[in-house]
Amino acid sequence: MPDPLSPIGVFDSGVGGLTVLAALRERLPNERFLYLGDTARLPYGSKSPDTVRRYARQAAGKLVERGVKLLVIACNTASAVAVDDLAQAFAPLPVIGVVEPGAAAACAATRSGHVLITGTEGTVSGGAYQRAMLARRPNLKIDAVACPMFVALAEEGWIDGPIPEAVARRYLELELAGPERTRVDTVVLGCTHFPVLRSVLERVCGPTVTFVDSAQTTAAVVADVLTRQRLASSTPDPSNPVQLLATDAPARFARVGSVFLGHPLTPTEVELLDL
Ligand code: DGL
Repeated sequence: MPDPLSPIGVFDSGVGGLTVLAALRERLPNERFLYLGDTARLPYGSKSPDTVRRYARQAAGKLVERGVKLLVIACNTASAVAVDDLAQAFAPLPVIGVVEPGAAAACAATRSGHVLITGTEGTVSGGAYQRAMLARRPNLKIDAVACPMFVALAEEGWIDGPIPEAVARRYLELELAGPERTRVDTVVLGCTHFPVLRSVLERVCGPTVTFVDSAQTTAAVVADVLTRQRLASSTPDPSNPVQLLATDAPARFARVGSVFLGHPLTPTEVELLDL
C-alpha cells in the first residue's frame, strides 16, 4: 500500500515541466515532490514515439525506485505516446499525463468550436490531443501546428520582445486568419515550454483567443486522484518539499529552470543522476 507521506514523482525531458511542478505545488501545498528532468536527452519533441517511450520508461523507473506514490508525466510529447505504457508498466501506481487534462480544458473553453493545438513535432503529428478532444466533442474543428522554435527561445530565455514575436507571427498568423465565425478562439499550449511565452502569444493572437495551459488542469486531476485513492498527505513537510534531479548539466538546469519555476534555483539544489 503506497504511503501518503511519499513524494509525487514528476518528470519531463528537461526544465519545461517545472511549469507543471509550480502548478502542482500551488494546488497541493502538503505534498512533497521529486522532479526529474532528462536534460541529457532533451529534446523529446523531435524523436520517434518508440524512443520517447523508452526514455519515458527509464525516467519513470528512476522515480518509482525512489518510492513515489503517483507519477505525473509533465512532458506533453511523452504524455502523448507513453501514458498507457507507463500505467501498465508501473501498475497500480497512478500515472497522469498532461494531454487528457489539457484536452478537457480546451473542450470546455471553446465557444466557436475551432481549436488550435500548438506543440512539438511529436505531439502534433501523433494526434493524441486531437483524439482526446474529438472523443469529448466530435464536432470540433481542430488545427495543429508544430512550433519547435518556441522550445529553443524559451530555453534561451528569449521570452519577450521582437524575436519571439516574429517567430510566433510566422507560426500562427495563417492559423488565426479567417472569417470571425469560423476563427480559432482557443489555443492549446501543448508543450511545457510555451506557457513562458504567453505574453508574446497573447499579443500575436489578440484578445479574442483563450489560452489553455494544461498545468492547472493537470494539478486538479492529481488532487482528485490523491483524494479518491486516499493518498493525499494531510500535513506539510517543510524540511524538503521539492527534490530536483537532472540527467545532465545541473548548472544549466538551475539557470534555465529559474525562468520556468518563477524563482531562482542554485546548481547545488539539483542532483545529477544517470539513467
Ligand atoms: N517537454 C517537451 C514537451 O512538452 C518539450 C521539450 C522537448 O522537446 O523535449 O513536449
